[in-house]
Amino acid sequence: MKIVFTASEAAPFLKTGGLGDVAGALPEVLSKIKGNEVCVFLPYYKKIKQNPEIETEFVKSFAVNLSWRAQHVGVFKLKSRKKKLKVYFIDNEYYFGRDSIYGDGDDGERFAYFSKAILESLVELNIRPDVIHLNDWQTALVPIFLNTFYLEALGNIKTVFTIHNIEYQGKADPYFLCDTLGLPEERTDTMIFDGCVNFMKGAILTCDALTTVSKTYANEIRYPYFAHGLSQVIEEHAFKLSGIVNGINTEVYDPNSDKALCANYSLQTAQKGKAENKRALQRRLGLPEREDVAVIGMVTRLVSHKGLDLICAVAEELMHWDIQLVIVGTGDAVYENRLRAVAQRNPDKFSLNLCFDSALASQIYASSDIYLMPSKSEPCGLSQLIAMRYGTIPVVNATGGLKDTVIPYDETTGEGVGFTFQSFNCDDMLDALRRALSVYGGDKEGWQKIVKNAMLRSSSWDESAKEYTKLYNDLVIK
Ligand code: GLC
Repeated sequence: MKIVFTASEAAPFLKTGGLGDVAGALPEVLSKIKGNEVCVFLPYYKKIKQNPEIETEFVKSFAVNLSWRAQHVGVFKLKSRKKKLKVYFIDNEYYFGRDSIYGDGDDGERFAYFSKAILESLVELNIRPDVIHLNDWQTALVPIFLNTFYLEALGNIKTVFTIHNIEYQGKADPYFLCDTLGLPEERTDTMIFDGCVNFMKGAILTCDALTTVSKTYANEIRYPYFAHGLSQVIEEHAFKLSGIVNGINTEVYDPNSDKALCANYSLQTAQKGKAENKRALQRRLGLPEREDVAVIGMVTRLVSHKGLDLICAVAEELMHWDIQLVIVGTGDAVYENRLRAVAQRNPDKFSLNLCFDSALASQIYASSDIYLMPSKSEPCGLSQLIAMRYGTIPVVNATGGLKDTVIPYDETTGEGVGFTFQSFNCDDMLDALRRALSVYGGDKEGWQKIVKNAMLRSSSWDESAKEYTKLYNDLVIK
């Protein structure tokens, strides 16, 4: 099976969020499955180009049309000893030679260019995949361009479109359809939604298989509460929709080798290892050094869908509990300000770190007892998986991937890996926290059992990569 995998970011080259983790890990695991050959396409962002650790070689240059524009495409290839995974970078100074990755006014045009440049590269480099796997709105135009402009040159390639977050759909003014995308008028119905060009809608309509990153989220986005306007469109295409849960890179996220930790540990040494890390974290953050106090950790963007409204609403109340709260992340000023005020009043209880610091993030995963993740919606969520691998017990809102990966602890059977609440409100969240704390403080053996269950839970990509490979095979055989 020849697979082209593309996304707007991928670790370790460039990562701003969960998409980058997935696009960094999944293609690699796919390429290890017998019979698969995988190529990855990424934008050659300035940050990648200037990174001396990323060595590339020039492959070819040519032009691609974006409506009336003729734009340069330079293709560079990662120098790598891995034979089966090839990584190509699309170079264009005008679109990618800047510091920003997302958030510019011309993002629509930048990623339209990227999508078309990928297809043009397949023609120019004579790559003929069986399947192209697209991710999120930035690469959502590939199936539309493929069906409109490249059928003759590239033949019948199947497309898989994965939604990592339906909130970001890629919207533009209607004039974009013709002026920038160069699409014919017949494509209007495919592309227009709610008076805008909508990249994601176009992909949903034209891809051969549609996936999301957990089974529960695949079901949730059929409903208006979760679908950000697209529920009807999803419902109409539910016949080709499935959910395949994400894994994590278990070599990167491993408490036994993570260099950011003062003490590495495995399942056997978790109790001692976690205690040492906890002491070091408390010292680093200026919190009282107490082994018995429950540390509740969060590594998160401070935005609404991560449940920050709940956190802000209960922060004061939590300060009356015998806990320590540690948060790292940045986000919306309103949440930053509200939390900062609480943290300033309670320096012994609350360490708020308004920054992005991956070493501190690792230390929080390792040192905390409880990992709090009250997301309003969560397509999959990766931090709860990392937390569990580090033996930190998630307390989560049972939505999307959180519901699928955090099986609640059952004290009668001793099974389960965390604590969940079923509706998005403060009382339910506090109740779940109380349940977790009562096992933590009152049933040490029970707690160690949950820690063990969590650490033993497999979060590797192996199973999901097999599921994707089966999906590709089914499409190609059809
Ligand atoms: C998005 C989602 C997150 C998911 C990640 C990778 O960031 O919000 O839930 O884990 O994509 O698929």
